[in-house]
Amino acid sequence: MKASMKKQATNFQMARSFHMVCVVAMAKNRVIGDGNDLLWQLPGDLKRVKQLTMGCPLIMGRRTFDSIGRALPGRLSVVMTRDKHWRADGAVPVASLAAAIDVAKDWLIEQKLGENRIILFGGGQIYKAGLPYCRTMEATFVDAEPSVGVKFPAFNSREWNDKLLQQFAAEGDMPGFSYHHLTRKRDALSLN
Ligand SMILES: NC(=O)c1ccc[n+]([C@@H]2O[C@H](COP(=O)([O-])OP(=O)(O)OC[C@H]3O[C@@H](n4cnc5c(N)ncnc54)[C@H](OP(=O)(O)O)[C@@H]3O)[C@@H](O)[C@H]2O)c1
Repeated sequence: MKASMKKQATNFQMARSFHMVCVVAMAKNRVIGDGNDLLWQLPGDLKRVKQLTMGCPLIMGRRTFDSIGRALPGRLSVVMTRDKHWRADGAVPVASLAAAIDVAKDWLIEQKLGENRIILFGGGQIYKAGLPYCRTMEATFVDAEPSVGVKFPAFNSREWNDKLLQQFAAEGDMPGFSYHHLTRKRDALSLN
């Protein structure tokens, strides 16, 4: 982007109210995956994630991008990595959370769709860095307790309003799970 356009985009960024939404599925003990992949397959959950994230930039760690294996269509994959040489088709590599937020905001402005949400997409390291910036969380709570795995960062549930959206009973090998919309009671860190 040219310097003048970048300045203009920055001015727009400051005038506009963006907010970060954490999208996550976690077990009772906050385990989210085994380090390479998810630990469960829940019917409808991928569809829900698609609905929640379509048209938005996704901030994710390089390990999560590798586990998905490709850039997700209809969204921007902003991938955090410390490897200056890392490249993947359709992904934008960034070296810090601040850079990821800037890329995400610029992209939303360029899309001209009025979308203001930036999705914190995981995994564990990226949730830990980004959660203080999240105003809302779209969480799937899974009735499972895997003994090992990557964890979502510890958070104080009393600091969030938790609205149960839908609940599903266990069936065969599939654990029970529920969808929740959580909202911070106090302000999140500013994205500006
Ligand atoms: N259940 C869910 O909702 C959910 C969602 C997403 C992911 N997951 C799971 O989470 C697991 C992966 O999580 P993870 O914690 O191991 O890895 P991750 O957070 O996906 O990625 C970690 C990588 O991000 C980069 N990184 C981290 N902090 C950075 C920083 N400050 N600046 C620049 N780059 C930074 C580094 O990449 P480099 O090594 O390239 O430098 C690091 O190795 C997988 O099992 C995945 O399936 C679960």
